[in-house]
Amino acid sequence: MGKGSGYGKVILFGEHFVVHSIPGVVSAVDSSTDAEVKKATKTNIRDERKTSKGYGEEKRLQQIESIERMLTAMQLDPKLPLDIWIGGSLPGFSGLGASAASSVAIARAISEELGLNLSNEEINAVAYEGEKAYAGNPSGIDNTAATYGGLMWFKKNPAGGQDRVEKIYVKQPVEIVIGSTGKTANTKLMVEGVAERKKKDHEKYDPLFTQAEKLADAGRKALETGDLKKVGELMNENHKILQEIGVSSEELDLLVDMARKHGAIGAKLTGGGGGGCMVALTPDKEVQSKISSAFKTAGYEFLATKIGIQT
Ligand code: PMV
Repeated sequence: MGKGSGYGKVILFGEHFVVHSIPGVVSAVDSSTDAEVKKATKTNIRDERKTSKGYGEEKRLQQIESIERMLTAMQLDPKLPLDIWIGGSLPGFSGLGASAASSVAIARAISEELGLNLSNEEINAVAYEGEKAYAGNPSGIDNTAATYGGLMWFKKNPAGGQDRVEKIYVKQPVEIVIGSTGKTANTKLMVEGVAERKKKDHEKYDPLFTQAEKLADAGRKALETGDLKKVGELMNENHKILQEIGVSSEELDLLVDMARKHGAIGAKLTGGGGGGCMVALTPDKEVQSKISSAFKTAGYEFLATKIGIQT
């Protein structure tokens, strides 16, 4: 049997913009998706992840396509019969890079089961192919975070070659709370929507893209110098431009407001939006638990974790 894991992630700056080669900042979280793969006579997928309602059903066809794409990328028969188990501590919530984490986990498990000995770089490339089933035109930020872990600045190569990935080091890990709207979102449709609106309305979108670039670079600097107040302010600004490009939702805005009201120094949606998750910067345990309790009382699932953990 082959085994593998992939990290979950939270995007602190630049989701959606990264698809268009604007830099983004992403951190792996200390939860992962695990996979086990065995050669079989018939394909069987047992997905035992804890998920938000409807996640499994919504993603089922994309999951099958993703595995076929990865097998093809490994120069194997896309219909190769495999028994695949998926589990681990990362919940299947939209926005946490759950699809990329599962792609990396499955790619690693296949590599081990079939003795392919794929390097991290190869696993990342295979998982990127798998991500296309979920995101259409993915930036590659999710599979990169899922493969390598850590905190990083990422810029997609617009020519399709090597992306730029630079590790960010923080003095110490910082507490965050990830709140889930409980709504499963279709990342592919969200990504396509932004691309279409951008094409139709350059006048509105171009300055927002310029602003996103400034935010990601300033966010990186503020993280490196430990200026968390600044990081929070920049996250708030990032949420505003995500609202402007039409990827927030009533519930995401509500959770963002709730987090700020309970002491978060910054909060924004994270990932594809349109449902899914938001992230609140809560750099002390007390604020972190205050926000966690507020989410719990209001009936929302959450993940209290840290960014900048060395993985
Ligand atoms: O919702 P998630 O966890 O799949 O994150 C998507 C992030 C996007 O920037 C919207 C897409 C991408 O490929 O970068």
